[in-house]
Amino acid sequence: MRILLIGSGGREHAFAWKLSQSPQCEKLFIAPGNAGTSQYGTNIPVGINDFDGIKKHCIEEKIDLVIVGPEEPLVKGITDFLINDPKLKRMDVIGPSKAGAQLEGSKAFAKAFMQKYNIPTAAYREFTLQNYKEGVEYINHHALPIVLKADGLAAGKGVVICENHFEALAEFDLMIQRAKFGEASKKVVIEEFLKGIELSVFVLTDGKNYVILPEAKDYKRAGEGDTGLNTGGMGAISPVPFADETFIKKVEEKIIKPTMDGLKKEGLVYRGFIFFGLIEVDDEPYMIEYNCRMGDPETEVVIPRLKNDFVELLVSAASQQLDKTNIEIDPRYACTVMAVSGGYPGEYEKGYKISGLNDISGPDNLLFHAGTSFKNENIVTSGGRVLCITSFGDSVEQAVDKSIKELDKISFTGMSYRRDIGFEFI
Ligand code: AMP
Ligand code: GLY
Repeated sequence: MRILLIGSGGREHAFAWKLSQSPQCEKLFIAPGNAGTSQYGTNIPVGINDFDGIKKHCIEEKIDLVIVGPEEPLVKGITDFLINDPKLKRMDVIGPSKAGAQLEGSKAFAKAFMQKYNIPTAAYREFTLQNYKEGVEYINHHALPIVLKADGLAAGKGVVICENHFEALAEFDLMIQRAKFGEASKKVVIEEFLKGIELSVFVLTDGKNYVILPEAKDYKRAGEGDTGLNTGGMGAISPVPFADETFIKKVEEKIIKPTMDGLKKEGLVYRGFIFFGLIEVDDEPYMIEYNCRMGDPETEVVIPRLKNDFVELLVSAASQQLDKTNIEIDPRYACTVMAVSGGYPGEYEKGYKISGLNDISGPDNLLFHAGTSFKNENIVTSGGRVLCITSFGDSVEQAVDKSIKELDKISFTGMSYRRDIGFEFI
């Protein structure tokens, strides 16, 4: 099987690592990949939104399977673009159609979908310039805190939680009147704040059937004790101790099944991952958001726990055979800790040499690159999130300790990381 993986983060390094272990993986390309993915396949200098470049590569290299990592090309319709080309008739794509990717691409679409299919979620309303005045009224009478969400993709920055009405009105004005997030905030979802503990559940679906992958918890804030600015994710753990069988069963009955039912009834073509961003309130799961892809850094703990042959699993999804698949999971705890550039998530510098990359001791510790590239003979930093170490342990504490011990062997100018990933469970 000749495979093309699209993306360049830690998620894609974990995918590449896992794909390359399959006897069915004959050739792997990564577009554009990072220094880490080049260990497992051939990086090609084609960007994630360069649809023509991707198509050309698929034709020239006779690709059988494309796996789309990040949301942006999915929301822009890469799957339809590829599968509708007569030259690529026999190629499969893992990633939803443009219509299916709206679950992530439009918060208003996702909320209406949840409401229609009775999926538990926060009460909400949507506003545009047309009903702006009504929005102001709505905010003025809304309980605190208030959550404002730009409808479209906003590089993970489109959600603002406001502690008072004044702040919420100012944010509403910025989003709608002053296009704070451009097109993405022409429409705004205003919703009720839910208080609880968050976790993510992942599903791989072929449109008819689905399999549930291990759940994970992501640590989004930059600072220890969940303080400071929001980031793409500073670490993750899996399994999540409170998400026992009873809880996951509730998630399946109240959230996953109605979602699958909705996809079918709405005719949304979906072969790929669904990321259910959940919050547990009084033992009950509520939906915060859908993503149309795997999470990052959640993938770096979910994929190492998956024992199945990854290529086989994805081929089953592409050929609508997931009903014949059993998922096998490593019962141990996995933790990943992300090392980031100095200043991240604000401004940071790139191009620093990374040392100690060959000192990681396996096989219970895995190094995944996120923002790295080659400069001359060296591997250098090329992003805010630079790399992470995933470790296995018999407890959260043991897994985290191992990750940190290994990370301490690595260094680059400005490197920092959280030492408290999984703190609530230690
Ligand atoms: P999102 O971009 O939708 O993932 O939202 C970012 C983060 O905002 C989520 O991970 C939650 O921590 C928080 N959030 C979003 N919606 C709500 C809500 N209704 N209640 C509480 N927290 C929320
Ligand atoms: N870690 C959160 C995300 O991938 O969106």
